[in-house]
Amino acid sequence: MSMLELRQVRKVYGDGDSQTAVLNGLDFKVEAGEFVAVLGPSGSGKSTFLSIAGALLAPTSGEVFIDGEALSGKSEKERADFRLRKIGFMFQSAQLLPFLKVKEQLLFSAKQANIQSAEGNRRANELLDQLHISHRSNVYPEKLSGGEKQRVAIARAWMNHPAILFADEPTASLDFERGKEVVRMLADAVRTEGKAAVMVTHDQRMLEWCTRVLRLENGILREA
Ligand SMILES: Nc1ncnc2c1ncn2[C@@H]1O[C@H](COP(=O)(O)OP(=O)(O)O)[C@@H](O)[C@H]1O
Ligand SMILES: [Mg+2]
Repeated sequence: MSMLELRQVRKVYGDGDSQTAVLNGLDFKVEAGEFVAVLGPSGSGKSTFLSIAGALLAPTSGEVFIDGEALSGKSEKERADFRLRKIGFMFQSAQLLPFLKVKEQLLFSAKQANIQSAEGNRRANELLDQLHISHRSNVYPEKLSGGEKQRVAIARAWMNHPAILFADEPTASLDFERGKEVVRMLADAVRTEGKAAVMVTHDQRMLEWCTRVLRLENGILREA
């Protein structure tokens, strides 16, 4: 069973005379173990694509399946619950909560998904170790470097054992070396977790650890 499948997804913004089709009959499948990169220039629809694949945004038409489950027909609340259990996200900025220490960020995420505190604690320690960031467990985000923040964001995204992680330009705020390190750790986590990830980026230099590279062009995905 695929971790993610999009079938004939269309997304049209605007109405009346000012309609633009950003996604235009897009098909896409991701299997366990894959770390897929999606390239495309600014404005090509990468964030729209990820938001739809990640159940943050509904398509105009077409279907999305995550871990075999269809998103269509779910209410807003059901989609939110589904995201907490099945999907991890990370963005260009880590979007950490300024009033929580590093480990607390992870525990907060577990709590939102109703994961028992003992299990949350075990999982947080495991991920902090994996991301080589356990020595920063008790500091506030303002004390972290950009690369460290993104490593915490990766740990948080995997916290609830999601089927798939979506990363929207996760290296855009980092220098080249820190960016590459973050992508390598993402790739390592995909392998360790035995799950899948999709990263969108406009940076060609970040593809070294991806298992497949696609290009978003004219509203569909093609082999790069
Ligand atoms: N909520 C929205 N309403 C109207 N147009 C939008 C909205 N979000 C994005 N767009 C437009 O859709 C196109 C694709 O945007 P986006 O998915 O953000 O691309 P990318 O992430 O590749 O830069 C752009 O032309 C953008 O202006
Ligand atoms: Mg974008």
